[in-house]
Formats: sequence, C-alpha cells, structure tokens
Amino acid sequence: MPQTVRGVVALSKGADVEVVDIVVPDPGPGEAVVRIASCGVCHTDLHYREGGINDEFPFLLGHEAAGVVEAVGEGVTEVAPGDFVVLNWRAVCGQCRACLKGKPWYCFNTANATQRMTLTDGTELSPALGIGAFIEKTLVAAGQCTKVDPEADAAAVGLLGCGVMAGFGAAVNTGGVQRGDSVAVIGCGGVGNAAIAGARTVGATTIIAVDVDDAKLETARTFGATHTVNGKDEDVVERVRELTGGFGADVVVEAVGRPETYEQAFYARDLAGTVVLVGVPTPDKQVTLPMIEIFGRGGALKSSWYGDCLPSRDFPMLVDLYRQGRFDLDAFVSERIALDEVESAFDKMERGEVLRSVVVL
Ligand SMILES: NC(=O)c1ccc[n+]([C@@H]2O[C@H](COP(=O)([O-])OP(=O)(O)OC[C@H]3O[C@@H](n4cnc5c(N)ncnc54)[C@H](O)[C@@H]3O)[C@@H](O)[C@H]2O)c1
Ligand SMILES: [Zn+2]
Ligand SMILES: [Zn+2]
Repeated sequence: MPQTVRGVVALSKGADVEVVDIVVPDPGPGEAVVRIASCGVCHTDLHYREGGINDEFPFLLGHEAAGVVEAVGEGVTEVAPGDFVVLNWRAVCGQCRACLKGKPWYCFNTANATQRMTLTDGTELSPALGIGAFIEKTLVAAGQCTKVDPEADAAAVGLLGCGVMAGFGAAVNTGGVQRGDSVAVIGCGGVGNAAIAGARTVGATTIIAVDVDDAKLETARTFGATHTVNGKDEDVVERVRELTGGFGADVVVEAVGRPETYEQAFYARDLAGTVVLVGVPTPDKQVTLPMIEIFGRGGALKSSWYGDCLPSRDFPMLVDLYRQGRFDLDAFVSERIALDEVESAFDKMERGEVLRSVVVL
C-alpha cells in the first residue's frame, strides 16, 4: 500500500518551502523505502528552490540523509529492511563507458527510483538529486543506500550524503592533495570546511581558508586552516601568494560557485597547480580568462561532482575515521531542527550563521 507522509516541497520558483502530504509508493523492483532519521540542509537545496538548477517544480527537497531501510522491492540484494544507511546520489551502473573503464565515480548512468513520489492530487515530484529526504520516508533506488556503522550518529554521518563528501573529495579525490601540499579553499561553508578537513587529514601543511565572513574563518581554523584571508578586506590572490612563498597554492578549491571566486582560484594557484571547482554556478554565470594564462600556467582546471566519490568505498571509510576521532563530522552539525524549520534554515545559511542545519525526525 502506498503511504502518505509529511515532506518539504518547493512548489514554485522562489516561493517559501512548505510541509505537505506526500504519497510514497511501495518499493518496486530495485527500489527501497527508507525511514529518514536525519537530513542536512545543503546550499544546493536553496539553489533548487530558487530555480537555479532547473525548472522541474515541484521539488521534494533534502538530499544529505541517513535512515533505516524499511522495505525493499523485488531483486534487491544490496540492502535489507533494518539496515542503517546513508543515502547517496551516485548509485553506479557498472555498465557505462566510465564504469567499464574502472572509473565508476564518473558513472554516466546512475540509478534513481523508477516510480515517482507525488502530491496527494497525483502531481509528480522531482526529488532533489534523485533523493528527496526532508520527509518521513523516501523512495530511492536500492543502490542509493550505503550501509554504514549503525552506532554512528545519524545527524553527523548523513552529511556524508552530499556536502561533506563533496568537500572532502574535492580536495582529496579530485585535487589529489598530498602530504606537504599547500591548499587554499575559497568559501568556508559546509563544503569548504570539509575540503579543509580533508586536506588536513591527508597531511597538507599550509591550508588557507578564504571567506568574506570572519566568523566562518574562525570556524575554518577549527577544521584545520593554518591561515585565513577575508576576501572583503584583502586581495585574495596576493595574500595566498604571500602565504605560499610568493608562488600560489598547489591546489585551490573553489567552494562558492561564482565567477569572481573562480578567477581568484585560477590566479591563486602555483604553476602546474590544480583548481577544483566544487561550488555550483547558476546557469547564467560566465568567466573570461586570457587563454595565454590558461596555457602558460599549466596544471589542471578540474570540476568535482560529489567529490568524485564512490559511496561504497568512501562513506564507510569516512565513518571509520569519524568513529576513531580523526574526522570531526559532529562539528558540521550547527543545529538540529524540525521539518517545518527548513525555510528558516535557508535564512540562517544565507546570513552565514550555520554550517549545517540538520532536520532530525
Ligand atoms: N559539486 C558538488 O557535488 C556539490 C555538493 C554540495 C554542494 N555544492 C555547492 O558548493 C557550494 C557551497 O555549498 P555550502 O553548502 O558549503 O554553502 P554555504 O552557503 O554553507 O557556504 C558558502 C560559503 O561561501 C562564502 N562566500 C560567499 N561569497 C564569497 C566570496 N565572494 N568569497 C569568499 N567566500 C564567499 C560564504 O560566506 C559561505 O561561508 C554551493 O554552490 C553548493 O551548491 C556542490
Ligand atoms: Zn556507470
Ligand atoms: Zn548537497
């Protein structure tokens, strides 16, 4: 029997989100219904609400979640009812050209549930990143459920489902940060601080946090930043060069998604250095760069979707590091809120007051 549960929906562009009744079908072949325990509020949810991702309203928001599998459909072997899982938006297919080349983190054919969740009038919902987890129970592809240690706090480990994994992976997987490297991270929200924490975990020795908010920069120090630069008061490129012997950083992670910060990243890296764009630009954004500088500086300009993670490899590893006290996921949880507080969490995010508000159910 389909179930009716409460969830947070963005009905139209720019309108405040609302908690409404949502119909969740029974899991079909290859699908699972997951009882959500926690779901973090990511900037990408706000991008969806503002129409910055696409126009497929209404959206069921939320995608950084942990929970317990309630039911599975036919043929599901990966997970079973009762499993504690973190939801992912990279259920890899194993068959596409990326998977067959042994690079499944680039999978071009990731799975989502085939059935749709709907409003009570039958209107089909677009779940954010194919998840939709500001809801009591959600329907996903079984491969979107990654089993992790059930002793871990759901509010903390659920954050691996998007922003923290994206930031950690942007530095470590995409940027390839290694011990002794210098790293600059522009934008110190949940994603940027995870990049900082990742850089520290793998042994970067100079970690420069850049933001326009002093409070964010203070927090960045607790995640491992060795230096901070406020882009409102200082020339970011000059300062990063000064702090790296005049050269620029080996790896610069852009975690804002704006042309001006991308340009800073481009010029703040050393020759042969790497820029990683993990911030998501809205479709109207353009950058203009002198081609001779792109050529002359060498190195790599990369973008990072989801930190080039492989959930089955990376989530349990990060949960282990968390449980051993080597990766502080708790520090990302600024507050625990109820389903009807998502809209005010967006305001707090925009005012820079939180790293992550986490809906706890
Ligand atoms: N690539 C991915 O897979 C992925 C995954 C999750 C989120 N994201 C994106 O990453 C970005 C960051 O997400 P978040 O949840 O950390 O957001 P957030 O709002 O918590 O953090 C953004 C930070 O950038 C800072 N900032 C804003 N303008 C700045 C500027 N001009 N210079 C320096 N700092 C500036 C803000 O003060 C804030 O601290 C968003 O664009 C989000 O959509 C990408
Ligand atoms: Zn694939
Ligand atoms: Zn996200």
